[in-house]
Amino acid sequence: MTQKRHKLEMNLVGGPHRLTASRRRFLSAVAAFTIVPRYVLGQGQTPPSEKLNIAGIGIGGQGGEDLKQFPNENIVALCDVDWAHAAHTFDRYPRAVRYKDYREMFDKQRGIDAVVVGTPDHLHAPVSMMAINHGKHVYCEKPVTLHWYDGGMTPPRPEELENSRELNREDGILFVGDKGKMLVEGWGGNSPRLIPEQRMKDYRLPPKTLPRSIGHYQEWVQACKTGTPTRSNFEFAGPLTEAVLLGTVCVRVGGQKLDWDSAKLKVTNCPQANDLLHYEYRKGWSL
Ligand SMILES: NC(=O)c1ccc[n+]([C@@H]2O[C@H](COP(=O)([O-])OP(=O)(O)OC[C@H]3O[C@@H](n4cnc5c(N)ncnc54)[C@H](O)[C@@H]3O)[C@@H](O)[C@H]2O)c1
Repeated sequence: MTQKRHKLEMNLVGGPHRLTASRRRFLSAVAAFTIVPRYVLGQGQTPPSEKLNIAGIGIGGQGGEDLKQFPNENIVALCDVDWAHAAHTFDRYPRAVRYKDYREMFDKQRGIDAVVVGTPDHLHAPVSMMAINHGKHVYCEKPVTLHWYDGGMTPPRPEELENSRELNREDGILFVGDKGKMLVEGWGGNSPRLIPEQRMKDYRLPPKTLPRSIGHYQEWVQACKTGTPTRSNFEFAGPLTEAVLLGTVCVRVGGQKLDWDSAKLKVTNCPQANDLLHYEYRKGWSL
């Protein structure tokens, strides 16, 4: 089975400081003398004093790939429990200080501005919260599986779909709304179509009013440096994550319709669903 996933990038810009206090002090102390202006360096280069000092935690897989997206920043520290699995990333950044325990890294290493978290899911929250409590920016990428993919298993064929059309066997999302259905086939969610196709043809797309993204990695870097919000910040990613996770709770309790009180974060019509909303962390790993 190939697992293809739709990714939800939660760009968590956390912590009270845009840059760590020591780094800010450093920048303000030396700004007048040592900042090399961009026009001296040429297009696309970041002056050393404007670079983020980034630490990667959980770098053997996707975390290592994420770090590659920040070629203009300093990768100053790397942490992984499995140094063999993470060897290729350690090799790529020979000057970065290496750690096995992220708690030790936060205790010991000074001058980290931001962390990229690529650990398995169960550690995302403890690691990200520890980083935020240390005043660091956090990039933590969580793919959300929103679509069908299991061995060609598809949802019931929607009656709105023309007889001549097949459902993509591999990937897709079917949105069922009050007024109709929308089918998104393939990976990446790029081509939403109302069904049947005639509804799509009759539909007039709204004007483009939302600002276009420069890409989530660069949005995050910009947010760390200037404080501008990322497009997928908590305000956006929180409710989206809430809705998607409730979908999995719904599946776990047999598919019954759940009434959700979002203010109280409780399901009001199914007590056993509430039991699935939280779990106990082992001692030493709580939030
Ligand atoms: N693989 C993908 O295509 C992909 C894409 C996007 C996001 N993700 C997400 O990235 C995360 C990691 O997935 P992966 O596929 O890279 O897995 P992986 O197992 O290859 O990488 C996880 C890394 O975290 C390390 N790790 C585990 N516990 C640790 C700890 N306590 N401290 C430090 N390091 C620790 C592991 O040794 C490993 O190197 C998951 O949340 C996954 O959903 C994966």
